[in-house]
Amino acid sequence: MEKMRATVFHGPNNIRVEEVERPRPSAGEAVIRVTLTTICGTDLHIVRGEYPVKPGLIIGHEPVGVIEEIGPGVTGYKVGDRVLVGAITPCGQCRACLSGHLSQCGHGAGYEAIGGWRFGNTINGAQAEYLLVPYAQANLAKIPDELSDEQVVLLADIASTGISGAESGGVRIGDAVVVFAQGPIGLSATVGAKLMGASLIIGVDGDEHRLSMARRLGADVVLDYREVDVVAEVIRLTGGGADVAIESLGTQGTFESALRCLRPGGTLSSLGVYSGKLQVPYEAFAAGLGDHRIVTTLCPGGKERMRRLMEMVKQGRVDFTPLLTHTVTLDQITEGYKIFGERLDGVLKVAVKP
Ligand SMILES: NC(=O)c1ccc[n+]([C@@H]2O[C@H](COP(=O)([O-])OP(=O)(O)OC[C@H]3O[C@@H](n4cnc5c(N)ncnc54)[C@H](O)[C@@H]3O)[C@@H](O)[C@H]2O)c1
Ligand SMILES: [Zn+2]
Ligand SMILES: [Zn+2]
Repeated sequence: MEKMRATVFHGPNNIRVEEVERPRPSAGEAVIRVTLTTICGTDLHIVRGEYPVKPGLIIGHEPVGVIEEIGPGVTGYKVGDRVLVGAITPCGQCRACLSGHLSQCGHGAGYEAIGGWRFGNTINGAQAEYLLVPYAQANLAKIPDELSDEQVVLLADIASTGISGAESGGVRIGDAVVVFAQGPIGLSATVGAKLMGASLIIGVDGDEHRLSMARRLGADVVLDYREVDVVAEVIRLTGGGADVAIESLGTQGTFESALRCLRPGGTLSSLGVYSGKLQVPYEAFAAGLGDHRIVTTLCPGGKERMRRLMEMVKQGRVDFTPLLTHTVTLDQITEGYKIFGERLDGVLKVAVKP
């Protein structure tokens, strides 16, 4: 039995890099040798025991690699191809996928909320030397030769998610957009708002380093929530309310502020992962008569999404490499978790090289 090194979740605050069995592909699957991956805020939720996964699972969901082995029935790829695989791996065949809701891909035949998120959730993930890719035909996206691993790794999750916040919010040319939180997801949402043609982008956070990155990536105005009344300031700056408010944190406070910032008819596009009870105050919601829209989005995945995002990088439309502030080896990954989790040293994202 061939072995590999992998980051295994054993229980809350207990992850270890250890030797495990190396995966082999069955029909429709492929195995990639992971050349670069990263740590997501959602991995922190898992490690802290806030999002349950089963002990023994390899975590991580942002893989770049080289095809090592291809199972029967997967066509159009060869061993040695460099590929990016999205964090979400839709099957491409179920009702949800064929209806265009790839992220809600069902494990059976139909829809399943969050069902398309498999890596490091329901199956072994990417913080390892090798990764088994399910539904390989729908999920292996070949990386153009001119792009480096570093240029594409963040497309697997945070860039796809953040940009989708603006897409799902239906940002139109000339819109005023406010983005709550400028972590990796919110910064990517800021990039998305710019790509979609917003005329005014307001980035909100309480970390100077992140606010300056927000400016660099496209925010016209940044607001420090510790210093200003964000809702009043957004209403003033937009002359009556934002067209689209993107929530990129996942708290009652930011959700509510996002709603209070909207003009009538505006859209709250929510990306955060919430826990507990989320309340909608009736006055911010115009008692249900304000023509507001509230939309939620799980990171879009699948090879066509990855191809489109890589094309944006290749053509110089976007560049997420400034967010890769730190690099560790797989054996140093617990140090990477510490830096990322405690937000030490101005960290935004930690690249992990197996
Ligand atoms: N929808 C999806 O598919 C998807 C995918 C990945 C992550 N997420 C979720 O997105 C959220 C953000 O992820 P991240 O990695 O960017 O998080 P992060 O923790 O790195 O960043 C959060 C940011 O929020 C800022 N902040 C804290 N309180 C604030 C406030 N009151 N107002 C404004 N900003 C505030 C912090 O300073 C920080 O910069 C998390 O809930 C994560 O689980 C969702
Ligand atoms: Zn993630
Ligand atoms: Zn499906």
